[in-house]
Amino acid sequence: MREQLEKIKQQGLEALRACTDGKELDALRVKFLGKKGELTAILKQMGKLSAEERPVIGQVANDVRQTLEQAVSARLEELKARELELKLKLETLDVTMPGKTAGVGGLHPLNIVLDDLIDIFQSMGFDVVDGPEVETDYYCFEALNVPKDHPARDMQDTFYLGDNLVLRTQTSAAQIRVMESRTPPIRIICPGRVYRADEVDATHSPVFHQVEGLVVDKGITMCDLKGCLEQFAHEIYGPETQVRFRPSFFPFTEPSVEVDVTCSECGGKGCRVCKGTGWIEILGAGMVHPNVLRGCGIDPDVYSGFAFGIGLDRLTTTRYKISDIRLLFENDQRFLNQFQGR
Ligand code: PHE
Repeated sequence: MREQLEKIKQQGLEALRACTDGKELDALRVKFLGKKGELTAILKQMGKLSAEERPVIGQVANDVRQTLEQAVSARLEELKARELELKLKLETLDVTMPGKTAGVGGLHPLNIVLDDLIDIFQSMGFDVVDGPEVETDYYCFEALNVPKDHPARDMQDTFYLGDNLVLRTQTSAAQIRVMESRTPPIRIICPGRVYRADEVDATHSPVFHQVEGLVVDKGITMCDLKGCLEQFAHEIYGPETQVRFRPSFFPFTEPSVEVDVTCSECGGKGCRVCKGTGWIEILGAGMVHPNVLRGCGIDPDVYSGFAFGIGLDRLTTTRYKISDIRLLFENDQRFLNQFQGR
């Protein structure tokens, strides 16, 4: 039996030395050391041995098992190392090859202009607030002194989500929410998306962007409105730009104005962009109507204020000479990439 064990040991070691891959190694382990393996087969016959022989042979058998087990794991390590070496040799890497560059994102042109606009108004002491895009009839129209029969309420102009819910047609809705929740002095801007059921063309989109502004305090006059908006226009378009205030009408302001700046394309001479007029309209504004203040619990005999609504899309298309507003919404990478790093 001792000889048999010795033979298994020799055969096992030899086979392991010759073995060259992991699968083969596993098969050898099963063959020699497994439950149905050669060593176990011999150990099963131990019962036939005499009481003196049994511990001696048992010792030998254990030695053989240990030797073979160690040889298996040593060989496994060797094979692993060899495999790694081979792999490394195959996968040589040329670190001088040019890499694949991952594109870095950039700001959307609307956001670039909005960030500038926020900087300008924050430096004048305005807070930035947010308002919901889905509004009730009350905030979008009623509280803004827009009468029930006003054409803006027509289905052709407004997207209705129910009898009482609309997609806001103007950020002016935010004025009411702010006046309800804060006490004067108030100085806020509210940028955001607005929706109108317009036909899509180069200058109209059913979704566009406004930045609402509101100032309420004691003794606010039309002079404050003019000064503030002139300063804004000069910072956005440059100090040489002229600003003009035209009388206009909005139900929630009295008096109301529309503000034009000299066309940045032609400098005021008249061109295709300004349709020959030399001017570009950038915002609507006015002194907050006493009815609106009153509706929000602010006494119009004590406080007054002005509000304005800037068309962000127009500001962006004129600044970057973008000929079609639709480009701002299509997210075509070829278009957007031109604004990277601006
Ligand atoms: N909400 C008006 C519009 O959408 C703009 C505006 C805002 C006018 C605030 C006056 C005061 O045209």
